Amino acid sequence: MRPIELSPRLRAVADLVPAGTKFVDVGTDHAYLPVYLIQQGVLDRAVVSDLRSGPLDRARQTAAHYGLTERLSFRLCDGLARVAPEEGETIAIAGMGGETIAAILNAAPWTKLGKRRLILQPMSALPDLRGWLEGAGYAIVREVLCQEGKNLYTVLLAEPGTMPPLTPAERWVGRQETGRGDPLRPALLERQRRRVTRALEGIAHSTRPEDIPWRAELQAVLTGLEAMEKELEV
Ligand SMILES: C[S@@+](CC[C@H](N)C(=O)[O-])C[C@H]1O[C@@H](n2cnc3c(N)ncnc32)[C@H](O)[C@@H]1O
Repeated sequence: MRPIELSPRLRAVADLVPAGTKFVDVGTDHAYLPVYLIQQGVLDRAVVSDLRSGPLDRARQTAAHYGLTERLSFRLCDGLARVAPEEGETIAIAGMGGETIAAILNAAPWTKLGKRRLILQPMSALPDLRGWLEGAGYAIVREVLCQEGKNLYTVLLAEPGTMPPLTPAERWVGRQETGRGDPLRPALLERQRRRVTRALEGIAHSTRPEDIPWRAELQAVLTGLEAMEKELEV
């Protein structure tokens, strides 16, 4: 049987999973990620969770189709509610909103204790998620970009710990690596600069009190993004 082929987004997540780790895939849906990792010999087994029975049934079907039912442990639960700390050395939470990812980690404080590797792939609210991780006791140790069609996705690799405070622009696009950076970084910076510029234009003449701090924040983000773009040019 042909092995599973992952989308570039899930492949970027898979590439951050170390061999032989105790792995949990939260919000697994079809279980493509853990099945791929087992087929590739990266993992022997995995725990998969999903909030809803429909997606978890799809995960069971994929596992059965590839003859791997015995190698997956299925948990119908919110986030990590039915996962024991010793089962989750590496935890992937992919394809969900940033707020949901933060809520899942917040409900499982053991994820910021001991040796853990969190592979987070938010579909939205990245600035909020980065800010939350920073304040909640996690350090973002790496970021990887990938492209699927026209979309750019970010995968965050985080672990328990602290990191130097993020600037407003770093909350939006992550910290810029020195030297050879991600080849998709210029495209990300350009997209986000346009987005922030549009948002600033949208509130340029607003007199609503709540827009005043928001405008200052966006202006700080824009200045930071422009500086990052300049830094990449040299
Ligand atoms: C868009 S799918 C992503 C599937 C896969 N992780 C991926 O990245 O392709 C999101 C899945 O997360 C599940 N989900 C949403 N909130 C969840 C939560 N709090 N705990 C567990 N699963 C959740 C949904 O039921 C759905 O199956």
